Amino acid sequence: MQPLKYAWFNGSIVPFEKASCSVLTHGLNYGTSVFEGIRAFSAGDDRKIVFRNRDHISRFRKSARMIGLNLPYDDESLYRGVEDVVRLGWIGGDVYIRPIAYVGFGGINLDFSRYKVEVAIAALSFNSYFEPGKKGLRVCVSSWRRVSGDTSLPLAKAGGNYLNSCLAKFEASRNGYDEAIFLDEHGSVSEGTGENIFLVYRDKLITPPLSSSILDGITRDTVLRIASNLGVTWHESSVSRGELYRADEVFFTGTAAGVTPIVEIDGRTVGNGEEGRYTRMIREEYDNLTRGRKVYQEDWLTWVKADGAQPVSGA
Ligand SMILES: Cc1ncc(COP(=O)(O)O)c(C=O)c1O
Repeated sequence: MQPLKYAWFNGSIVPFEKASCSVLTHGLNYGTSVFEGIRAFSAGDDRKIVFRNRDHISRFRKSARMIGLNLPYDDESLYRGVEDVVRLGWIGGDVYIRPIAYVGFGGINLDFSRYKVEVAIAALSFNSYFEPGKKGLRVCVSSWRRVSGDTSLPLAKAGGNYLNSCLAKFEASRNGYDEAIFLDEHGSVSEGTGENIFLVYRDKLITPPLSSSILDGITRDTVLRIASNLGVTWHESSVSRGELYRADEVFFTGTAAGVTPIVEIDGRTVGNGEEGRYTRMIREEYDNLTRGRKVYQEDWLTWVKADGAQPVSGA
């Protein structure tokens, strides 16, 4: 993964290396940050599509509000920041964009209300989150529970929550699995370490509700729209571990993961051990939407073109 040449840092475009912070940054020490992961999908040689930019920035602001951060930039500046970073640092292929807001250096007080909030948008070249070329993932149910609503804010995409994800991911990798599935504090299926989860049982699509301590995924929402559009019956309902084991199909969704089939859970084969027909149908439709071959909603797509322009400020 290669960082793009420019980042947006506190309102200006700067060379990527200049978007940096002190080791005493509050957000680095205590996890007081919120962030987003946005994809720009290649749609030909000189155009990319930033997918659901507005929805990501909206969740960014909500995450900030939930943990008590005041984002000092309006939405329009952030949308443009995302587009400028992609356009000015133009590279071929897909791009992963990372807006982040964090509490800066101010001291060691855990009450950060008087400390400055810094905001950055950086981006990386992106190929595939999981090992490319696999027919599906082998996953385990984690021994770690997903952060819950009485100890943190699972609905906020907040830095501190991701130690929980790192612990589960590390355990899964060390035991030879591709990914982990979290249960919530009640023992119901929650989600992956950076993905939402869906299962198919008797031709119905099922996904855990927000009350199962999940992140309100934008890909999850897109997949529900796809299901409605393709006439697939779906519902949100709490899912037990056993329902996971007896499912006909299981897949993850996420900005990084896209729609990725799961073919084995805790050593049990899912379906016939290959991507199922609903998963394939939904994955192909998701690909159509993110590459601009089909449009459900115009404002999901921000077209960015390589125009060779130079940064106007700060660089
Ligand atoms: C914990 C967690 N759950 C789910 C998701 C999927 O969300 P989205 O589809 O918005 O990327 C992510 C990724 O952002 C995540 O980090």
